[in-house]
Amino acid sequence: MLITDIKSMKEISEKLRKEGKSIGFVPTMGYLHEGHISLMECSKKENDITVVSIFVNPTQFGKNEDLDKYPRDLERDLKICKEVGVNYVFYPSVEQMYPAGYSTYVIMESLVDRLCGAFRPGHFKGVLTVVNKLFNIVKPDRAYFGKKDYQQYVVIKKMVKDLNMDIQIIGCPLIREKDGLALSSRNKYLSKEERESALSLSKALFKAKQLFEKGETDVSKLKEEMEKIMRSYPHVKEIQYIEIVNPENLEPKEKAEKGDIILVAAFVGSTRLIDNIQL
Ligand code: PAJ
Repeated sequence: MLITDIKSMKEISEKLRKEGKSIGFVPTMGYLHEGHISLMECSKKENDITVVSIFVNPTQFGKNEDLDKYPRDLERDLKICKEVGVNYVFYPSVEQMYPAGYSTYVIMESLVDRLCGAFRPGHFKGVLTVVNKLFNIVKPDRAYFGKKDYQQYVVIKKMVKDLNMDIQIIGCPLIREKDGLALSSRNKYLSKEERESALSLSKALFKAKQLFEKGETDVSKLKEEMEKIMRSYPHVKEIQYIEIVNPENLEPKEKAEKGDIILVAAFVGSTRLIDNIQL
């Protein structure tokens, strides 16, 4: 069922909670794909009710980012949600979420200064604010986030802990196409040739993991190898970062260990892509 206003969503959640139903929540910006669907499936398994939100959140986009051209297709998204068996789709307007005079934000003082946060100032402030608002509206028992956006997952887990929120944050595996490309709504922007170059991110990550498994733990060597692979593709325009970090506190490592996360961000043509793998 499609819910477009905050008041109705709150009433429905309150009623469900009174009835003792557990609520699983999957926040999204729509243009749904198998990555999103895997989160919905996880939620369905673990909860009585699954709520999906579709909201392209303006506060998490920078001035020169792709807010206006972010892909949207509500009809298709609703069809997918129905097929998967989602109970409620929450689709609020920007005016409702951020009415004139809106001025309260959630700011984290650690973890957001690095990786994507360093290249997208204000991005996580927008993410944390909207996720906090959505949590207050949907009141879930559990919320599902993909490890595709690994830093986002860690930052949200920390917000929930720091602010004593009674919500369990569940991280779900990153879903890839058969050829390795991490699924993303932004893949729609890629031309055929660019898509070929986009494979360089996963190729570099797989290679680094393979080298690690053969005994290479020197982070600078692993990064060098990855950069070489990525630079060999014609449409890789700018590599923003290649980092190997501790999975909990996102601190950069010098010697790689099992469980560490390798993360990359790069522009392929004019599309910014991210990917990661766990060692
Ligand atoms: P969006 O990019 O639509 O992603 C919604 C959720 O789907 C996120 O938890 C994301 O990590 C997950 N996801 C995307 N691609 C995935 C993949 N290939 N495999 C597994 N999970 C994947 O992330 C956002 O929206 C927004 O920042 C949001 C949290 C909704 C706040 O506005």
